[in-house]
Amino acid sequence: MPRTEFIATGFHVPERVVTNDDLAQLMDTSDDWITQRSGIKTRHWVSDGETGVTLAREASCRALANARMEPSDLDCIVYCTCTPDHFEPGNGVFLERELGLTDIPAIDVRNQCSGFIYGLSVADAWIRTGQYQRVLLVGAEVHSRGLDKTKRGRDTAVLFGDGAGAAILGPTDDPRRGVLSTHLFADGRHAEKLWVDAPGLAHDPYVSEQLLHEGKHRAVMEGKEVFKFASILMPQSVAVALRANGLTPADITLLVPHQANLRIIEMVQKVTGLRDDQVYVNIQKYGNTTAASIPIALHEAVCAGRLARGDVLIFTAFGSGFTWASAAIRW
Ligand code: UT7
Repeated sequence: MPRTEFIATGFHVPERVVTNDDLAQLMDTSDDWITQRSGIKTRHWVSDGETGVTLAREASCRALANARMEPSDLDCIVYCTCTPDHFEPGNGVFLERELGLTDIPAIDVRNQCSGFIYGLSVADAWIRTGQYQRVLLVGAEVHSRGLDKTKRGRDTAVLFGDGAGAAILGPTDDPRRGVLSTHLFADGRHAEKLWVDAPGLAHDPYVSEQLLHEGKHRAVMEGKEVFKFASILMPQSVAVALRANGLTPADITLLVPHQANLRIIEMVQKVTGLRDDQVYVNIQKYGNTTAASIPIALHEAVCAGRLARGDVLIFTAFGSGFTWASAAIRW
């Protein structure tokens, strides 16, 4: 059975940069509070005319160009997002249309911050079994339009940003390279600890003035609980990935964690016992872009020369659901 390799990556963020001081103009917050609690300094927000799909299209076109491939070379699209442009259909088909394609499957993965690793797991299984050869895996999010930019929502509004990251995946026969493993986890007992309640068909009517008035269409979070579980379960997922492949922390060239909060990343680094140069961090620039954060960080790391052939790369993520996941890759 072949393994799955990363053929190329790409990313795109909107031009508009929003600083912590900009946010302090909109709501009762400060650069000090945001920097101390999260490490975030700036994030990118979409402008008129931009959507999750337009961000995904740009990231995908860059990844395709880096792979020296055309959209027509793709066999399948795996689109990971928790901020779809529309309730139905999913963003995958809109991206397919934007790429000028009409006859390949497009699947949408709804696993929030763990979305990219869940999507990688799906793509990896298809590639290893030979069902598809060239898979476009995208994580793309537009949070800014959904945030509650008042004091009520400031604990979440300051954390999230918009952006997209993409990877082109395909089979390799080199037994020393490729995706070594993916491990996926979920615990729905915590579903309401970070969620968007409405619009949703658990409500009748599924959207109403009252739901909007109550702010049920905004992301709400029990921040301390999310922090506590992420700090425990992300390092555990890294340990599972290492154990499954007979690796130790010393073998890791680069850990690319989901960029949720600098303090969570520091906790993962400490518990796993990694040096600074083994962990990639860019949350200060983009904030939390959920399913887009790992592919954006991966592309930056690749461009910065942080990965060479044969290096061990580990992904870990945690988020709403709760869902969490890890992947081990030999680059
Ligand atoms: O992928 C997973 C995504 N989510 C996360 O990673 C979030 C994980 N959680 C966290 O990172 C932290 O819980 C937060 C950064 C969200 C909050 O930090 P905290 O230390 O847990 O603060 P808190 O919620 O206990 O709030 C402390 C104070 C409160 O004021 P009082 O009650 O002490 O007067 C909040 O009202 O900070 C206030 N506060 C703010 N102040 C200024 C909450 N948000 C803000 C804000 N600016 N943006």
